[in-house]
Amino acid sequence: MTVSLPSIAIIGTGSMGGAILSGLVRPEVEAASITVTNRSVAKAAPLASDRVVSVATDVTPDGNRVAVTGARIVLLGVKPAMISDVLRELAPALSPDAIVISVAAGVTIATMEAIVPGAVLRAMPNTPAVVGRAVTGLSRGSRVSDAELAIARDVFETVGDVLVIPEEKIDALSTISGSGPAYVFYLIEELTRTAVDLGFTADEAALMVNTTFLGAAELLVSSGENPDELRRRVTSPKGTTERAIGVLEQADLHELFGRATSAALARAREMAAGA
Ligand SMILES: NC(=O)c1ccc[n+]([C@@H]2O[C@H](COP(=O)([O-])OP(=O)(O)OC[C@H]3O[C@@H](n4cnc5c(N)ncnc54)[C@H](OP(=O)(O)O)[C@@H]3O)[C@@H](O)[C@H]2O)c1
Repeated sequence: MTVSLPSIAIIGTGSMGGAILSGLVRPEVEAASITVTNRSVAKAAPLASDRVVSVATDVTPDGNRVAVTGARIVLLGVKPAMISDVLRELAPALSPDAIVISVAAGVTIATMEAIVPGAVLRAMPNTPAVVGRAVTGLSRGSRVSDAELAIARDVFETVGDVLVIPEEKIDALSTISGSGPAYVFYLIEELTRTAVDLGFTADEAALMVNTTFLGAAELLVSSGENPDELRRRVTSPKGTTERAIGVLEQADLHELFGRATSAALARAREMAAGA
């Protein structure tokens, strides 16, 4: 299905901005225009293509303002500490109907609405955006119409699924899906180490563990079953998996994930307070 998007500028097109750009240039997406910016030529040059105008502000000092001139969607992909300065720089050049969307962690909608007059949203995508499998939390500001929210949603649906949530929940979402890929990679690392301890080579261990994670995730999606039901199906009564799960249950992962996400949430609040 073809997705039509209005003109887009991405200001700060590094890891996350670049991941979103990879969704915008998919063949089934038609954007009226795409302009992206970075400071350095090293970052900007590889992003240029027949569909993307890529600007380095080191070479074109007013490149950010030029990029947002006439853009309906302005996506901010710079680091959180730079959002306010960049918005002040852009404000005079923004179109009256510009929809400003920031992916910066910890920078509130109120902070941004104090600088720009129009529609502002906050988004929290995660790194699987690079492969079109992101989960993005999307929160609308006080001046965002339903039509503008729908446009913002379309942007992030080019890289995966979107969950529209109130801003009060965006830090909590970040502790689950934003940080979540790191939790999964950590589990993969540790299970791989265990496989090596059991005598497998690093390659054998990686094949077993990576394919098991991928296979289990695909089974979860394609079966439509709940994970607890799928786990029961692997866990024969009095079998080997039952013994292993019994040991894992003693570790109380629910309590452990609760503590881990609380720590992440506390850090998000520190960052919002400027620490
Ligand atoms: N990475 C994640 O998993 C993730 C997830 C969700 C949200 N985010 C958010 O995404 C934002 C960016 O993170 P990131 O990891 O993508 O960082 P990054 O890779 O460092 O990207 C930031 C980019 O902004 C460019 N930039 C800096 N100042 C600029 C300016 N004044 N004008 C134009 N471009 C400028 C940088 O270009 P130069 O290098 O050339 O200076 C760089 O390419 C952060 O606010 C973060 O909170 C990240």
